[in-house]
Amino acid sequence: MSKVYSVPKSIAESALLNESQYSKMYQQSIDNNESFWAEQAARIDWIKPFKTIKDVSYQKDDLHIRWYEDGTLNVSENCIDRHLATRADQVAIIWEGDDPSVSKSITYRELHVEVCKFANVLKSLGVEKGDRVTLYMPMIPEAAFAMLACARIGAVHSVVFGGFSADALAGRIIDCESKLVITADYSRRGGKQIPLKNNVDAAAEKEGVKEYLQSVLVIKNTGDDVVWNESLDYWYHECIAQVEDDCPATEMGAEDPLFILYTSGSTGKPKGVLHTSGGYLVYASLTHQYVFDYHDGDIYWCTADVGWITGHSYIVYGPLANGATTLMFEGVPNYPDSSRFWQICDKHQVNICYTAPTAIRALMREGDSYVNSTSRQSLRLLGSVGEPINPEAWQWYYDVVGEQRCPIVDTWWQTETGGILISPLPGATPLKPGSASRPLFGIKPALVDGDGMELPGATEGNLVISDSWPGQMRTVYGDHQRFIDTYFSTFEGRYFTGDGARRDEDGYYWITGRVDDVLNISGHRMGTAEIESALVAHQEVAEAAVVGYPHDIKGQGIYTFVTLNAGVEGSQALEKELVQWIRKEIGPVASPDFIQFAPGLPKTRSGKIMRRILRKIAEDDFANLGDISTLAEPAVVDDLIENRKNKN
Ligand code: WTA
Repeated sequence: MSKVYSVPKSIAESALLNESQYSKMYQQSIDNNESFWAEQAARIDWIKPFKTIKDVSYQKDDLHIRWYEDGTLNVSENCIDRHLATRADQVAIIWEGDDPSVSKSITYRELHVEVCKFANVLKSLGVEKGDRVTLYMPMIPEAAFAMLACARIGAVHSVVFGGFSADALAGRIIDCESKLVITADYSRRGGKQIPLKNNVDAAAEKEGVKEYLQSVLVIKNTGDDVVWNESLDYWYHECIAQVEDDCPATEMGAEDPLFILYTSGSTGKPKGVLHTSGGYLVYASLTHQYVFDYHDGDIYWCTADVGWITGHSYIVYGPLANGATTLMFEGVPNYPDSSRFWQICDKHQVNICYTAPTAIRALMREGDSYVNSTSRQSLRLLGSVGEPINPEAWQWYYDVVGEQRCPIVDTWWQTETGGILISPLPGATPLKPGSASRPLFGIKPALVDGDGMELPGATEGNLVISDSWPGQMRTVYGDHQRFIDTYFSTFEGRYFTGDGARRDEDGYYWITGRVDDVLNISGHRMGTAEIESALVAHQEVAEAAVVGYPHDIKGQGIYTFVTLNAGVEGSQALEKELVQWIRKEIGPVASPDFIQFAPGLPKTRSGKIMRRILRKIAEDDFANLGDISTLAEPAVVDDLIENRKNKN
């Protein structure tokens, strides 16, 4: 039996919802699903009210997901303009630089001006409603301005994380046919500079990109030298000097696209996850308010990068829709030293801090003194996202960082879900370390076996969601069939998450991790297929297989088995070269932790690589390889084990 932490008294007294309120509201959201979501839609402002609430079919041959379809709104107006009457002078964004001596605050009034100007710059560059705009940005306020400026004029943003390479960026520009890329000269992280503009230049040179890319808008961030391309490049500071500081918001249909965000799956290249306007914003707003128990005046900090869905929903859209003060941090947890997160909490009097298990584990390893040297008295609530949090890390976060005063919301969700689906609510949910606990409003999770049979009671299985919610992705950009195949074909009539989970006797969910070939490296999703195809593209590589293995800090590490072309010898130099190759093809986020040269890979007689065996070998768990009799050549396994031992 795991330990249970009941709701602390101070939280119970002030929380928005207690246990019985949660239960009642949850039941209503399931029993009267449409009226629940009709009521919740009132949390945002509509230009034209909707009449239809929900139009959804999870059936393969008629798959469609539509919410509030005949309503109209503008997302940026909801995140900015509507707050001006009551909170124009309240801080909307606190920005903390990589350099601890640099920070600034932007009020809602200022945000309005910045976003309007940015939107006018976009218009001056020919961006129109429906156009796709790629953002490749540092964690600076301009990243949020750019997203909101796109939303203001109905352009669809696609943010590409700065840790992806020029090649990866080029692929994403081409896939959504972006006519504009917004970037900065350099980004700063942990005292180092990353040459973003340089990567954009390299991407712009790639075949296919020129067909779409018409301009590159560059923010001067560090001020260091960049190569200038007169036919493509525009300085942002020069452009804004020439535009008006007001820009009317474009009226958008609820189902008009808001953004595309590329994410890795178990097969093929990354998918463009498409989110639309009305339902997404309602869901981001609802979940931000209740999961973080957000009260007016709270200082809220999500440490994610805007290049990931967490940054979209819980740095920008959710908090700003709720008129919150949201903190954006440019740097990393251990620069200048491992106290940085907690120093930021003290400096800005942060009340709610939402971060990832990988950061918690890395800081935990450095010892308690870095935490204990700070006050953290302002903290009321802690959050976790991105991967299962191991009970040791949970306990440290709870005991040392939160001094047993702050509940931890372990939030389970995905790029595809738009917002949090399973999570404790601070005032309503007794906590079990390592469990994301119970579903949020309108969410119907279920566990099914391999044949799609629903498993009742306390059990373990594949996690599916049986009904739609407004924040759900609508399609894979440009490939609706792939959307159907990936999410609605494995288990008919249900959304398949790709995760496995256990449900205990209290109905709490414990996410056990991916059941497909997707890795979770430091909370970043990587497809094994993607890394494999990048490896095979190297001239010396004949074949490659990639598996995850347990990693103390990253959660999972990337273990690659590589078969070289005949006559090519494995060497340390070649290992290094392959790591560099992956960094170039995909980006530093996909750097392999281990490369093992393998004379052959274990395959079934039909030629399918047996990853189960490779996983065991990567884990150093040679005793539990299971049945290898179905292999075409069982002897390759001995070779692999021999080589693995040499790696230790
Ligand atoms: C994993 C991030 C356990 C899960 C928001 C999911 C988690 C994938 C948790 C989505 C959690 C996310 N506990 N696992 N609290 N949160 N995951 O799309 O495997 O980057 O499918 O979205 O991360 O990753 P993504």
